Amino acid sequence: MRRPTSIAPPKGKLGVLMPGMGAVSTTFMAGVELVRTGCALPIGSVTQLATIRLGKRTERRSPLIREFVPLEKLDNLVFGGWDIFPDTAYEAARKAGVLEPPHLEQVKGLLSSIQPMTAAFDQAYVKKLDGPHVKKAKTKLDLAEAIKEDIQRFKKESGAQRLVMVWCGSTEVFQTPHLVHADPARFEKAMKENHPAIAPSMLYAWAAITSGVPFANGAPNLTVDIPALQELARGHNVPICGKDFKTGQTLLKTVLAPGFKARMLGLHGWFSTNILGNRDGEVLDDPDSFKTKEESKLGVLEYILQPQLYPELYGKLCHKVRINYYPPRGDNKEGWDNIDIFGWLGYPMQIKVDFLCRDSILAAPIVLDLVLFLDLAKRAGLAGIQEWLSFYWLRGEDLITHLGAEYYD
Ligand SMILES: NC(=O)c1ccc[n+]([C@@H]2O[C@H](COP(=O)([O-])OP(=O)(O)OC[C@H]3O[C@@H](n4cnc5c(N)ncnc54)[C@H](O)[C@@H]3O)[C@@H](O)[C@H]2O)c1
Repeated sequence: MRRPTSIAPPKGKLGVLMPGMGAVSTTFMAGVELVRTGCALPIGSVTQLATIRLGKRTERRSPLIREFVPLEKLDNLVFGGWDIFPDTAYEAARKAGVLEPPHLEQVKGLLSSIQPMTAAFDQAYVKKLDGPHVKKAKTKLDLAEAIKEDIQRFKKESGAQRLVMVWCGSTEVFQTPHLVHADPARFEKAMKENHPAIAPSMLYAWAAITSGVPFANGAPNLTVDIPALQELARGHNVPICGKDFKTGQTLLKTVLAPGFKARMLGLHGWFSTNILGNRDGEVLDDPDSFKTKEESKLGVLEYILQPQLYPELYGKLCHKVRINYYPPRGDNKEGWDNIDIFGWLGYPMQIKVDFLCRDSILAAPIVLDLVLFLDLAKRAGLAGIQEWLSFYWLRGEDLITHLGAEYYD
């Protein structure tokens, strides 16, 4: 990676724009407000809590990252978003049911003031949802231009000097790259022609990039994993990254798998199953949206274990992932893993993991870190895919997504 010669200091407010004002985005906004008013701690956030070692270990110099690099302060964040439902962030947070009412009441003032802008939405890409708060336009290009106008209006009204956009919208149906994704000209022509390979999340990404706004993709959708938007990002000097927040079961998977590999322990199989009952779970109940998530979750082990280098340890791994929508659990997901490993002389062993997690509680600090780091990247003049942020993601088409030893090699 190119080292920046200078990093512009953060001036004025930083606007955070989120397509999708559901469980993750409202938990993030509420959390920032609770932290900056001194009511809670930013647990899970690297930008707020982690230190960085300088010099030799024996020097014992470990300042906080946020004191070592010029990150924006939480006090200067302002929020906006889009959704297909007209609920304010407060109403959406209540419906999402992640935070307890006493927490929500403490931030009711801020959250009630955040009204979503009308969404660029098409039910063909999220079959289980439909909502009334959507833009109407003749072409997809018109929709994307309308998002650009929203961005400019938000900037003016909020007084933000810089912006970052994080897709926190629902998981769209599975897509593979198409010829119209090959370069910006074909992509723009396809938007004009309402081509089905242009998903709504891509319209937001195009609008952000061409407005000079860094973009991160929190869902497993294709979105910016296409040459057209990556080229556009480099051309507009915009940092981008994604995809799919690494939380819950896959977070643990990417912690355990490098451990097995470091000790050269083999794997016969890894069976993962989940129950979750939030709106995300309902969307994933559609086989086409589930396929997008499944591909994202399946890719991680292959990437970490490098079966091509270690065929006798990982060449025959059987990896299965299941997600079941089970409303009684709400946002409190349960993920079970059965891991069949083998050791010295091939003797088999089993490990069972049962993680009773809270998805949005794990995702919210990732949103915060991405916002602050992408803003830093922009001020440092970095553009295109930000590989150094891949630690937060489940996967990307051509980025390193799990900081195992290979990253440092
Ligand atoms: N919670 C986690 O730990 C986690 C982890 C990885 C990925 N994700 C992904 O993050 C995304 C958000 O998760 P969530 O739990 O907040 O889901 P959610 O269903 O609570 O919120 C998503 C919101 O996006 C809105 N939406 C859908 N399409 C839209 C569009 N085109 N424009 C504007 N709004 C749109 C929906 O109406 C909904 O309110 C999902 O794609 C999910 O798969 C979440």
